[in-house]
Amino acid sequence: MILFSGITKSYAKKPVLDSISLIIKEGELLFITGPSGAGKTTLLKLIYCSERPDKGHITVADWEVSKLKQGEIPELRRNIGIIFQDFKLLPNRTVFDNVALALSIHGMNPGKTRHYVNEILEEVKLLDKANLFPQFLSGGEQQRVVIARAMVSKPVVLLADEPTGDLDVENAKAIMELFSKINRKGTTVVIATHDENLFRGSGHRVIFINDHYIEKEYVG
Ligand SMILES: Nc1ncnc2c1ncn2[C@@H]1O[C@H](COP(=O)(O)OP(=O)(O)OP(=O)(O)O)[C@@H](O)[C@H]1O
Ligand SMILES: [Mg+2]
Repeated sequence: MILFSGITKSYAKKPVLDSISLIIKEGELLFITGPSGAGKTTLLKLIYCSERPDKGHITVADWEVSKLKQGEIPELRRNIGIIFQDFKLLPNRTVFDNVALALSIHGMNPGKTRHYVNEILEEVKLLDKANLFPQFLSGGEQQRVVIARAMVSKPVVLLADEPTGDLDVENAKAIMELFSKINRKGTTVVIATHDENLFRGSGHRVIFINDHYIEKEYVG
């Protein structure tokens, strides 16, 4: 599903990733971990083409990501769900509208949009809060809206960067269960995290990045 072949990425001549090769299988749930500054976020950004590699090839499903022209990037992103801390919920839009916006941007008609949004809000157990503004939701609930927003367009890949960073243990566990459920339904999920509790005992593959390369790989 996702292939990294000899990926090298530097910022201002400072290497971050050096000749990384990695295969993420269709339907896999993969964790990326490692110390702060190791390049976890950078690796995710390379997948959705927010950063470009200096060297190497990346493919995601049928897209040669490293060769995409600027105008082709939105099409790639329509197929990738992205959960990043800097993509906040809009405070002046309801839960429903926050999730629906992703679809109306894609040009979906209102009837179909309502159906898709309700379906995913049901899935994250927030249908009863659809008309509230984000400020009236708990941190865990807000994060479930963020996940709903990422999943509403039925992406083939879900990328999450420190998705439980602001949450307590109970909420982090609930979010992780939601990712597992999404993964069991067939979506490939890639999660970058510091939090060992997320992957310990999970049975999923863990990639540990350090010193610009994949230092070890094991089953969590
Ligand atoms: N746009 C940028 N310009 C310059 N340097 C950058 C940029 N983005 C990241 N870096 C640098 O690249 C390195 C890797 O950053 P990255 O955000 O990928 O690390 P990370 O593993 O996600 O860290 P953290 O665990 O703190 O989130 C860091 O040294 C960072 O300062
Ligand atoms: Mg990061």
